[in-house]
Amino acid sequence: MTAFNYANGELLAENCPVQHLAEQHGTPLYVYSRQAFENSYLEYANALGDSGMTCYAVKANSNIAVLNVLARLGAGFDIVSQGELQRVLAAGGDASRVVFSGLGKTQSELLFALQAGVHCINLESAAELEALAEVCAEHGVEAKVSLRVNPDVDAKTHPYISTGLKENKFGIDIAIADQVYRRAHQLDGITVVGIDCHIGSQLTETKPFLDALDRVLILVDQLAEEGIVIEHLDLGGGLGVCYQDETPPTPTEHVNAIKEHLGDRPLKLIFEPGRSIAANAGILVTKVEYLKPGEHKNFAIIDGAMNDMIRPSLYSAWMDLQPVCQRNNTETKVWDAVGPVCETGDFLAKDRELAIEAGDYLALFGAGAYGFTMASNYNTRGRAAEVMVDGDNNYVIRQRENFDDMVRGEQLLP
Ligand code: LLP
Repeated sequence: MTAFNYANGELLAENCPVQHLAEQHGTPLYVYSRQAFENSYLEYANALGDSGMTCYAVKANSNIAVLNVLARLGAGFDIVSQGELQRVLAAGGDASRVVFSGLGKTQSELLFALQAGVHCINLESAAELEALAEVCAEHGVEAKVSLRVNPDVDAKTHPYISTGLKENKFGIDIAIADQVYRRAHQLDGITVVGIDCHIGSQLTETKPFLDALDRVLILVDQLAEEGIVIEHLDLGGGLGVCYQDETPPTPTEHVNAIKEHLGDRPLKLIFEPGRSIAANAGILVTKVEYLKPGEHKNFAIIDGAMNDMIRPSLYSAWMDLQPVCQRNNTETKVWDAVGPVCETGDFLAKDRELAIEAGDYLALFGAGAYGFTMASNYNTRGRAAEVMVDGDNNYVIRQRENFDDMVRGEQLLP
């Protein structure tokens, strides 16, 4: 079941015609479905039951309306900066259900998070542990910690989003993690509660997760023998979605596979899904400004660009692009959909068979994750507006940026 479906050749977002949304709010426009966010979050939460916590990875889509929709269902959150924590709090999220990931947290960010009362700090180096202990000592606060270990497994995904190999910058080498655990166990103000790993993103198989889990469990047993008790196991995010023809496990299958592998160990489970909650809850709608057919290539010049959605340019990601209203009176040709930004790498889709005319709207699917959050003002283009549909209704959850928004804080010399 998806939230974006065609009825009589017209794309609907839940019950709202996308053509109307584009006319009402302008383009480029992100359109999200409340129901899709809720369904995918609830699939995780129901599969986990009371054996753990689903901490949505805020980086995938951090609009406060999105976070609020999830917070109302009791979601936890995985954050990587003070700014993301402030978003969670502004959205009514519960700090005690937040895990703080990231390899470069500053001492002031750590203090902010501890004072807000986050559930756990996921540490990524021995140096970060010492920095945290200093914060605790100086400010008389206590911290619950997990160590993010790097299990050195191949996630078999794009190299830019693979994080669990020993050549990647993330996590503590699993071979030396026991030493860091011993140190954490001794330090005043620090309580060891967990272990975590995140091996990459857009994984379409279960095996790399289970391989990582096996390595992590060996360490958990070794630590238990030394009296260091691990209460929760956080396997990160990383579950892939279908952009083209991938067939990743569903969240239910994913959670169940991990639970089965754990057997009757008394460990609570945490997941940090981002993409598998957000990607298919959103589309990016753009308008065809001009058609430029040519001898070698046909270019459809659209008003959405790499600054709105960088995944195709950055990772050569394939994302489905379809007309919002299907035409049957126009010849189908093979088009590259390119934006107005002054870069050859500025495209959203290449070599797509489309029957289109100038003025048509196009929808880029799977755009709910790592779309708006990675958008920029490159070429002084205001970032797109975002709307959330809920049944028959639609709500602007972020206004389109205007010139004043873009130059805010800039100043001329005296
Ligand atoms: N936890 C940690 C520690 C992470 O680093 C990430 C993602 C997640 C959870 C969520 O992973 P997910 O469930 O979304 O795969 N911009 C890239 C993806 C970067 C992922 C970074 N870390 C893309 O558009 O493909």
